[in-house]
Amino acid sequence: MTSVTMSPDIHAAITAVGHYLPETRLTNQDLMKLVDTTDEWIKSRTGIEERRILTGEKKGVSYMAAHAAQEILDKRGIQADEIDVIIVATVTADMSFPATACLVQAEIGATNAWGFDLSAACTGFLFALNTGAGIIESGRASKVLVIGSDKMSSITDYTDRKTCVLFGDAAAGVLLEPDANNNGIIDSELRMDGHGWEALCMLGGGSLHPATHDTVDQKMHYIQQDGQTVFKVAVKGMADVAVEIMERNHLTSDDIRFLVPHQANQRIIDAVARRMKLDPDRIMLNISRYGNTTAATIPLCLHDWELDLNEGDNLVLAAFGGGFTWGATYLRWAYDSVEAKHSDPSLIDAQQVL
Ligand code: ACO
Repeated sequence: MTSVTMSPDIHAAITAVGHYLPETRLTNQDLMKLVDTTDEWIKSRTGIEERRILTGEKKGVSYMAAHAAQEILDKRGIQADEIDVIIVATVTADMSFPATACLVQAEIGATNAWGFDLSAACTGFLFALNTGAGIIESGRASKVLVIGSDKMSSITDYTDRKTCVLFGDAAAGVLLEPDANNNGIIDSELRMDGHGWEALCMLGGGSLHPATHDTVDQKMHYIQQDGQTVFKVAVKGMADVAVEIMERNHLTSDDIRFLVPHQANQRIIDAVARRMKLDPDRIMLNISRYGNTTAATIPLCLHDWELDLNEGDNLVLAAFGGGFTWGATYLRWAYDSVEAKHSDPSLIDAQQVL
């Protein structure tokens, strides 16, 4: 890991975005063959039309995360050995240990990196982004990969209509680098409340309930969710922190180019946007195509909208997830497009600040 000395006005900026989407699609029509549901119910209650499912025997979360990481390296035009830290946000790691970050490190050849996994369910990417930003701001690293990757199909019960319609598989992530032009991550409000853990969890497979025949028979290795409880807390939690971030940074709705919300339910997103007084064209929304990909949703939005973003655009990222965990981050986008970025001298090359 390289060590750099930072002045206090250095922010951690996103300088590249990458993603991986499995090819196999699971549509609402497909799910109608598995459980008692309808396309109309799923679309009207969640906004989801289809999701991607990772198939293939030796493919877990690290497979998707490594592909996303490689796309980031290619787009930024850097080598894997330049990466200092790899943080993977996930609740569906390949194994309990080693960390998925180790497997990604080996796969891409990031020979100078250290790293770890971060578990915060659907808020995982936001917590990981802020953790990575803190490492950059401390001066202890100049290139941090932050990847959200989840293979939700591996913990979804496809006989439970209340959960199986919601989730999909994907990975996406960003590269964080120091920026001295007042772009990057400016402010965050991050929260958790463990009292709500039972409303959204997977009980089996950990140290409390190690895997046994009984835990399998009781379906304890699948997601369990009290949807209504989570819905109510999510709307309030996400909206509260998003509005707080706006007020604290004197942002009006006109100042915000995009809300980048976790994609769990379109009705939650619409409610948050209403509290922020944002028009629909200021909301990144791709839930119809991918469903809820847990830690991948926010960077997947950044990937899908990347070419619409310009340097200086104000974004508010907001998420809510199991734990409960939730938060909002205010950042200023640091580059105009993939092409323009590579010739943009305002982004600090790590070598210049060594
Ligand atoms: N098809 C048809 N009917 C269904 C389906 C389905 N797929 N699922 C549930 N229903 C039925 C229920 O059985 C119930 O029927 P009943 O009234 O006869 O009992 C009825 O629809 C209403 O069920 P609710 O659970 O109240 O439905 P709701 O409108 O709350 O929608 C949903 C459910 C979509 C899960 C919603 O509650 C939600 O989005 N919750 C929040 C999810 C979330 O944000 N999670 C956090 C992130 S995830 C993470 O961290 C891993």
